[in-house]
Amino acid sequence: MNGRTIDIAPSILSADFSRLGEEIEAVERGGATILHVDVMDGHFVPNLTVGLPVVKSIAHATKLTIDAHLMISEPGRYAEQFVEAGAKMVSVHVEADPHLHRTLASIKSAGALAGAVINPATSIESLEEALPFADYVLVMSVNPGFGGQRFISTSIEKVRRLRELIESRKLDTRIEIDGGIDLENIAAVVAAGAEIIVVGSAIFGAADPEAAVRGLREATVQWV
Ligand code: DX5
Ligand code: ZN
Repeated sequence: MNGRTIDIAPSILSADFSRLGEEIEAVERGGATILHVDVMDGHFVPNLTVGLPVVKSIAHATKLTIDAHLMISEPGRYAEQFVEAGAKMVSVHVEADPHLHRTLASIKSAGALAGAVINPATSIESLEEALPFADYVLVMSVNPGFGGQRFISTSIEKVRRLRELIESRKLDTRIEIDGGIDLENIAAVVAAGAEIIVVGSAIFGAADPEAAVRGLREATVQWV
């Protein structure tokens, strides 16, 4: 599995919001390609974060691709608005949306890539029907809601099985992984088939976020 594009996607959840512009510039200099924005509603997950106005402001301030991860109930009500606000990737949880096909289609027709997200206890079989309609699948490797949690190691095998499923169906769906990723485990998740790697605390909790991104990229060079 060489010759792949591996994207490092810093999650601003762990950034210093009082200096958000500088934090984003630092990860961009380090070689980040995607900026991951965690949207939480205090209902689907037990935490509240940012929403449309923040995505809109960031979209004006950076050239990085904005990836909105919607951890909200009824994501179909808001998904298109995140595209209009400037997100080029929008993902919704399969657990939160009984009308996943419609929501994915609405994200695409609004002009962004559409992602389906599965929680750690949600099986990849639950994606069986939705897979052809998703541009990417986000595998959660922690329970969503907070940064800085410990990586659930069975996620590596889950990514491997998802990669097999995607290849057996001759799809070009990309795999994103999110939660507890650091220098210790990034090589294993990339080897298993993940290509978009979300990292929060291991970047913004580091003394030098720019160097942290560079180090994570270097840990994946053998696959690019
Ligand atoms: C968790 C969020 C993640 C989080 C990742 O609910 O979806 O994107 O910010 O942070 P770390 O890398 O610290 O686990
Ligand atoms: Zn996330």
